[in-house]
Amino acid sequence: MATAGKVIKCKAAVAWEPGKPVAIEEVEVAPPQENEVRIKIIATAVCHTDLYHLFESMHKDGFPTVLGHEAAGIVESVGPGVTEFTPGDKVIPVFLHQCGKCRFCLSPKTNQCQKAWDVVRPITMAPLESRITCKGKKILQFAGTSTFSEYTVVNHMSLAKIDPAAPLDKVCLIGCGICTGYGAAVNTAKVEPGSTCAVFGLGAVGLAAVMGCSAAGAKRIIAVDINPDKFEKAKVFGATDFVNPKDHSEPVSKVLAEMTDGGVDYSLECVGNVEVMRSALESCVGAWGVSVIVGWTTLKDTSIQPVQLISGRTWKGSLFGGFKGKVDIPGMVKAYMDKKLKLDEFITHNLKLDQVNDAIELMKTGKCIRTVLTTS
Ligand SMILES: NC(=O)c1ccc[n+]([C@@H]2O[C@H](COP(=O)([O-])OP(=O)(O)OC[C@H]3O[C@@H](n4cnc5c(N)ncnc54)[C@H](O)[C@@H]3O)[C@@H](O)[C@H]2O)c1
Ligand SMILES: [Zn+2]
Ligand SMILES: [Zn+2]
Repeated sequence: MATAGKVIKCKAAVAWEPGKPVAIEEVEVAPPQENEVRIKIIATAVCHTDLYHLFESMHKDGFPTVLGHEAAGIVESVGPGVTEFTPGDKVIPVFLHQCGKCRFCLSPKTNQCQKAWDVVRPITMAPLESRITCKGKKILQFAGTSTFSEYTVVNHMSLAKIDPAAPLDKVCLIGCGICTGYGAAVNTAKVEPGSTCAVFGLGAVGLAAVMGCSAAGAKRIIAVDINPDKFEKAKVFGATDFVNPKDHSEPVSKVLAEMTDGGVDYSLECVGNVEVMRSALESCVGAWGVSVIVGWTTLKDTSIQPVQLISGRTWKGSLFGGFKGKVDIPGMVKAYMDKKLKLDEFITHNLKLDQVNDAIELMKTGKCIRTVLTTS
């Protein structure tokens, strides 16, 4: 490619400081270094974790940055040592590295890598040194990806090669929200056929959890959200019952216990709110219920009465749905191509990258499920 080895000047959405809209700027994207790959981003969606970084965590050390981590693109060039990718490959960047060799990568019990991103860090930055600069300043690469840009550079450990026939403006969703929710139900909760489930929060992550519960054979899936506009969509993914906590004077866990003779078998929290995490735990049946925390927050602690677990409940967390991104993403793309996984139904809006602030606003106001931004 004519651009290989050269700095690429292109458009990106730079978040200069917390709490402010992002700015479309011309940035310089350096050529990939050893073990790195430069990608032309074709489509990228907005996930709540982007909003969290910009408007909720307000962690000053995490700026300036280019947000975005749910995307698909085409390899433009590769750095020394990269043998797995060649220019023209269709790829999905992954915010969880996989070196493929460490104790974690070799274990089926986790999708994390010892060389990777440390989940307890307040800023979701991968160990990649940024390759993006703007106006002479280094711009941090959010989640090691930074996909709100026409080009980005990622480590080859954070990249999955996918079917060249896959439509990038659809399969970009596999890069975060869909794997996260679907896997939380299937891999982490391990929902069983005939069971009763409750999903709290019906954004793309929660709806994908509903889809996962349904795929696992749950007979009843209770969809819980304070925005009743989300219920119609939840039906499409297999929800059978709908609860708006605002319609009830008693705690939602009590409402669910009454509906299910003592509590659901599995509950999944897909909001990122510690009170909801506790409600979700309390909504599952004391004797054997499994509750999974999927929503993201580093702002507050949560607490429970020990007896709530002693009685037999299990409380778990799930990062990227327990999927080993690099290995499992191609299979999720195949499942979509084989019509075994829904993606189109999550996309409520299609905009251009320079309309990213509109996409952020749509999510903030609960008007979208996923907005896909394309670069050309
Ligand atoms: N664990 C992971 O790997 C991972 C990956 C991606 C996203 N996330 C997190 O998952 C969460 C959901 O992401 P999303 O993109 O679907 O967000 P979203 O904003 O599209 O959806 C959140 C939903 O929660 C609902 N909600 C808000 N308060 C509620 C309450 N008190 N009770 C019930 N519902 C409530 C909202 O109305 C909305 O429908 C976020 O916290 C995000 O950061 C986690
Ligand atoms: Zn995400
Ligand atoms: Zn590893």
